[in-house]
Amino acid sequence: MTDQHGQEPTRRDFIYIAAGGAAAVGGALTLWPFIDQMNPAADTLALASIRIDTSPVETGQQITVMWRGGPVFIRRRTEAEIQESLTVDISALPDSLARNENLADDAPATDENRRYTEDLLIMKGNCTHLGCVPLGEAGDYDGWYCPCHGSHYDTAGRIRRGPAPENLPVPPLRADEANPAIVVIG
Ligand code: FES
Repeated sequence: MTDQHGQEPTRRDFIYIAAGGAAAVGGALTLWPFIDQMNPAADTLALASIRIDTSPVETGQQITVMWRGGPVFIRRRTEAEIQESLTVDISALPDSLARNENLADDAPATDENRRYTEDLLIMKGNCTHLGCVPLGEAGDYDGWYCPCHGSHYDTAGRIRRGPAPENLPVPPLRADEANPAIVVIG
C-alpha cells in the first residue's frame, strides 16, 4: 500500500508487541507480529513499565513496541538523519518544545532534547493530530508521515507541516542499570 507520496512502509518498520511488563526484543528479524496470549489484566498493563533490548536494532531500522496500549517507535537513526536534525532552526518549528517527559516542560525541541542516545530515537507513535500511526521513513522531512490528514514529522519526530499540533512525545525512559542496551519505558 502506498501513500499519496508513492512511498511504501519498508520492511525495516518491524512491529513488535511487547508482552506484559518484562519482554525484550530478541531478534529484530523475527518480530512480525508477536502477540502474547498471556497478557495481564488491562489495569496491570496500564501501570507497567516495559524493558526493551535495543541492541538488535540496526542503524536505519525501526521497531515498534506497545506500551500502555499505544505504539512506541524505537529507531536507530543513520548519521545522515542525525545531521539533518541537528541543522534545524528550532525557532522556526511549529512546535518548539521537546515534549520529552524526561525533561522540563519548557525544554526546547533540539535534537539533544528529543533523542535517547545520539542515534536512538524513542517516542510515542500516535500522531498528535487525531492519533493515527505515522509511517516511518516517509514524508517531506525524511522522518514520519501521517497519511490520515498529511502531517510530516522530521528525523527527530518533530512536526514540520500538516495539522498535527505537537511533536511526537517522548515517554519516560531510563537505561537498565545492569545492561545499558536495555531501555526501560515507563
Ligand atoms: S491523525 Fe495524523 S494528520 Fe490527522
